[in-house]
Amino acid sequence: MLIRKPPPPRILVNNVSCMRNAQTVLRNINVTVHDGSALVLTGPNGSGKTTFLRMLAGFSRPSAGEILWNGHDTTSPGVFQQYKLQLNWLSLKDAIKNKLTVLENVQWFEVLEGKDGSASLPSLELMGLGRLANEKARMLSMGQRKRLQLARLLAIDRPIWLMDEPSVALDTEGVELLEYIIARHRKQGGIVFVATHLPIEIEDAMDLRLPQRFPRRKTSVDLLD
Ligand SMILES: Nc1ncnc2c1ncn2[C@@H]1O[C@H](COP(=O)(O)OP(=O)(O)OP(=O)(O)O)[C@@H](O)[C@H]1O
Ligand SMILES: [Mg+2]
Repeated sequence: MLIRKPPPPRILVNNVSCMRNAQTVLRNINVTVHDGSALVLTGPNGSGKTTFLRMLAGFSRPSAGEILWNGHDTTSPGVFQQYKLQLNWLSLKDAIKNKLTVLENVQWFEVLEGKDGSASLPSLELMGLGRLANEKARMLSMGQRKRLQLARLLAIDRPIWLMDEPSVALDTEGVELLEYIIARHRKQGGIVFVATHLPIEIEDAMDLRLPQRFPRRKTSVDLLD
């Protein structure tokens, strides 16, 4: 009888630690991620959520342990070249060009991706920005800028989303849209990592709560009690 080996997880974070500024920020983290999964990272300011996402994106290397993609170490150059093409990064720095129109800001990313730009307008429409497509991006409010970033994610269409505080500045409808596109992406087999302080409804998500790094000093807030 032929016994098939189950496929390796898409991403395996194997006993990973990470240093920043000569200090250990993340210690012995283990996460197993299959297609369609979501991981929600929470924890106090400075606990290492962004560091974790940066490490997954390859901006920082683990100081111990390994991150495997399809069973291969992502830090080996041949693997990283392919792995990085799977990633879509949404951070607080929005890389929006104010002089371009809203539509051009999405199309520019699509063209860099080797695509023809035709996914940009439908993505903006889904995020509620269709009406503003031909306005200059400098006209956008904070929440509209975040919607534009999310439209880019949709237009570029890569499987692994790394999202740092994606709901910041979004209104209630914006958060619902965010939840909807995350659910849709996962149904199509995509993977989502989300660092957040605000509650975002993500069905069956794995939770990773990072601990406070230093004992907290008393602040003026404690004195109010
Ligand atoms: N550019 C940097 N160089 C060196 N150390 C940094 C840098 N950015 C952050 N750190 C340190 O790394 C630690 C983790 O920071 P990180 O930004 O990952 O936390 P976070 O959990 O994302 O916090 P927040 O909730 O404020 O976004 C902090 O102690 C911080 O001081
Ligand atoms: Mg952060």
